[in-house]
Amino acid sequence: MGKPGKKQTHRRPKPRAFYGGSDEDEYQQQATSEITIPSSDEEKESEKLNDDDQEQEQEQEQEQEQEQEEQSILCPSKFLLYQQSVQSPKGDISYLQKFFLMFVGGRSPLHLQEDFCGTALLCTEWLRSDTRRTAVGVDLDLEALAWCLENNVDKIGVDGCSRMSLFHGNVLQPLNAKLVKNKPLDLITNITLDDCEEHPETVAPESTLLLDPNSSMDDATKRNCSLPARDIVCAFNYSCCCLHRRADLILYFRHVLDTLSQRGGIFVMDIYGGTSSERKLRLQRRFPNFTYVWEQAEFDIIHRTTRISLHFHLQNRKKLRHAFSYNWRLWSLPEIKDCLEEAGFQSVHFWIRPMPDTGEMRTSEGFYAGRDIKYEEMSTFQQDDAWNAYIIGVVK
Ligand SMILES: C[S@@+](CC[C@H](N)C(=O)[O-])C[C@H]1O[C@@H](n2cnc3c(N)ncnc32)[C@H](O)[C@@H]1O
Repeated sequence: MGKPGKKQTHRRPKPRAFYGGSDEDEYQQQATSEITIPSSDEEKESEKLNDDDQEQEQEQEQEQEQEQEEQSILCPSKFLLYQQSVQSPKGDISYLQKFFLMFVGGRSPLHLQEDFCGTALLCTEWLRSDTRRTAVGVDLDLEALAWCLENNVDKIGVDGCSRMSLFHGNVLQPLNAKLVKNKPLDLITNITLDDCEEHPETVAPESTLLLDPNSSMDDATKRNCSLPARDIVCAFNYSCCCLHRRADLILYFRHVLDTLSQRGGIFVMDIYGGTSSERKLRLQRRFPNFTYVWEQAEFDIIHRTTRISLHFHLQNRKKLRHAFSYNWRLWSLPEIKDCLEEAGFQSVHFWIRPMPDTGEMRTSEGFYAGRDIKYEEMSTFQQDDAWNAYIIGVVK
């Protein structure tokens, strides 16, 4: 899979997210101006002027890109730092595949939904490995979704992009979530048959997203988009802790069930715990260019809530304090199991791995994420200083 539009005749502006029609019009104009062939001298003169304009524009764009690159070295985006330090999508995906084959089986999982997706790094990684795969991401944070379009989706090519749908909205009201349009998809939509005949190298892959014929891209929501039934829905990096009420957790799990394929599917979420999770704690981990800090506030045992802040300390002494802050309810494993069953899941499984002792980590070089320690299915697990769990809800 190449970079989007690399071999295309159309110059493709950097993708970015937007609502409304004005940007789309501007985009269509840009795409169309690339394929106009002038026939008279006058047109040639105007073409030269256009060329000069375009050259100037391209130079400006290059300068801007260079400035942005320099800026991103001095002060990288908080989303990039988060992806580098917090996420490991390849590992998550290999467990997702394993769980699907173990608990459902009979087919390869192709259709993934990442709820609370943030920058939808997992969706992007999912699409890379098989061209039949589709991915749906849902999040409340439009800034994260926009960053995803510009930085993650940009790397999976036009084909990958046509298999990804991002929605901006609340997982508790998923049908109202709005489709976040991205430029590569618009480009595909804007390519006419004539364009393809004139420029046979411009291949427009079919988007996996089918819109209700009565809706336009501008008002597309999850309700009027027809998406393939999902094989797997996941909610990672403790995102379900953003939901504080039991009724909301069950409501969310019911929405997940509605989304899963009737041929069988799994829901996978993760959670952390252990004695260290119920008190004030600060851990840090060094990366080549920055240090990642996890700060945990006091733990309220009545509501089981805590506040987590993620900070990044850069090499140039700059600090991104509170780059991300979360107010979490730390659900217990049996609470989650009960809610999944109440929502209608047929079976629930726990895969747990012990995490390195936080007391030892604080006195050593920095905290080690313990990525080599494998998860194993457990039916009992004695309390420890720190552990991580995948919880799998199965429906067949
Ligand atoms: C801890 S981050 C996890 C991001 C990503 N899933 C990951 O694995 O790193 C939680 C995300 O959930 C989103 N979020 C919180 N409440 C939400 C809700 N009710 N509906 C949709 N997204 C929500 C936040 O905007 C944030 O991006």
